[in-house]
Amino acid sequence: MSKQDDKFKQLVSHCKEYGFIFQSSEIYDGLSAAYDYGPYGVELKNNIKSYWWKSMVLMHQNIVGLDAAIFMEPRTWKASGHVDAFNDPMIDNKDSKKRYRADVLVENYIDKIEGKINKEITKAKKRFGDAFNEEEFRSTNQRVLNNQEKMDTIAKRLANGMRDNNLADVKALIEELEIACPVSGSRNWTEVRQFNLMFSTQLGNISGEAGKLYLRPETAQGIFVNFLNVQKSTRQKIPFGIAQIGKAFRNEIVARQFIFRMREFEQMEMQFFVQPGEEMKWYKYWKDARMKWHQAIGTPADKLRFHDHDNLAHYANAAVDIQFDFPFGFKELEGIHSRTDFDLTQHQELSGRKLQYFDPEREESYVPYVVETSIGCDRMFLAVMSQALQEEVVPDAKGNDSTRTVLKIHPALAPVKCTVLPLVKNKEVLTTKAKEIFNQLKFSFNCQYDEKDAIGRRYRRQDAIGTPYCITVDFDTLEDNTVTIRDRDTLKQERISISEIENIVKEKIDMKQLFHETETVA
Ligand code: GAP
Repeated sequence: MSKQDDKFKQLVSHCKEYGFIFQSSEIYDGLSAAYDYGPYGVELKNNIKSYWWKSMVLMHQNIVGLDAAIFMEPRTWKASGHVDAFNDPMIDNKDSKKRYRADVLVENYIDKIEGKINKEITKAKKRFGDAFNEEEFRSTNQRVLNNQEKMDTIAKRLANGMRDNNLADVKALIEELEIACPVSGSRNWTEVRQFNLMFSTQLGNISGEAGKLYLRPETAQGIFVNFLNVQKSTRQKIPFGIAQIGKAFRNEIVARQFIFRMREFEQMEMQFFVQPGEEMKWYKYWKDARMKWHQAIGTPADKLRFHDHDNLAHYANAAVDIQFDFPFGFKELEGIHSRTDFDLTQHQELSGRKLQYFDPEREESYVPYVVETSIGCDRMFLAVMSQALQEEVVPDAKGNDSTRTVLKIHPALAPVKCTVLPLVKNKEVLTTKAKEIFNQLKFSFNCQYDEKDAIGRRYRRQDAIGTPYCITVDFDTLEDNTVTIRDRDTLKQERISISEIENIVKEKIDMKQLFHETETVA
């Protein structure tokens, strides 16, 4: 097993052991690709949503919120193209009977070639030390150039096959690359077929097609159909945006990699309505703004990258992913799409209602163009956790080396902000004082009181759930009303007065600092 696999396994078991994420219906052996968020998971997820929501709705006068229903009139999905084109190409291995996404099999093959390039670069870095210039190496080393060309040719052929719905060529590509089933090892494949990803259910007691309802596969359509309601009721002028957080459902062919690809998940989407012709300016603006949002919480720049789509969706004239370096490699975390006027025009045609904006400056009506930012909340959760979970060697109470597991989550996102600990459990004077402090702090932020186990073990437990500050009440507290405050990351302990705790913690956990860092001028 590779180091990366180990890290991922450790992350999944940490999420369970410390109450972040549980398999759905676990006592019945679980339901695949559905997960439940535990006590710390729900806090972290809420904080991620709050960081996104505030950065959109509070920080932009011209972005407003919406919470549309999951069920929509079924014609919505005909208009959006989902009924006809929201498909993934599937292929089965006849020996193992396992089902795969044909495009993902090819993408995994491309990832392997990329792995070879990265190995060459790591080797060369070691050999040349500080003098190493990666850009120059990539553009001159023959092995890297050959592999890059191979990757580009395969990616282009896959993109063309997908765009033209040429599934026979996707199958031919799998055969030519000699891709084998990871389970049976055989190359005995079926034809590639399209599989629609929408879940459906029935409305009331109406049976058959007439009562067929879909569970929304994206939140965006709730925004499009409400475009004029929101614009008129809030008197917004173009450019303006509508933001929404909500559940989406996709019957993914293969849903693996924990919460990376789920069948029920949550999206945070924002549709930005602009004048036709101005969409590229806003597309660049949102690319820049969204990258800053990711970096502000401490994600290093080399863990994030842009990846232009090789295969544009039916509605887009430009599209880019922000990819994150997950434990299983760089994968899509967020999408930024220039969706043209596709959706509004389609809804206009199918509903028979005008979805046009009257522009008072241009004195004309038009269907606006849309730039969308769309991020999966669960995927963001996985990115935050995989970046934060670390093992460190630190000195223990006696000064010996010991290993600690710590979640270095930005304090603004941490599930618990501060925990109050009496130094020892069985001294009532200490526990009473500690509870008194806890009962003051609980009004201001998510705070815990903990008296179980030895103090060292309690610190380690707080490190493992990412609590940025531990407040310890000892015998000096009773004399001079001071406590120690321990910083999760530096392990420094400082003595401060009880009256200072609230302000110190509040300042460190405040999202304000993040918004200052992410402010982008249009
Ligand atoms: N409205 C555009 C749209 O839905 P998308 O690229 O299909 O675009 C946007 O999805 C984001 O939603 C992705 O970048 C990803 O973060 C998240 N997402 C998509 N499918 C998902 C799944 N099955 N499980 C978890 N997150 C998913």
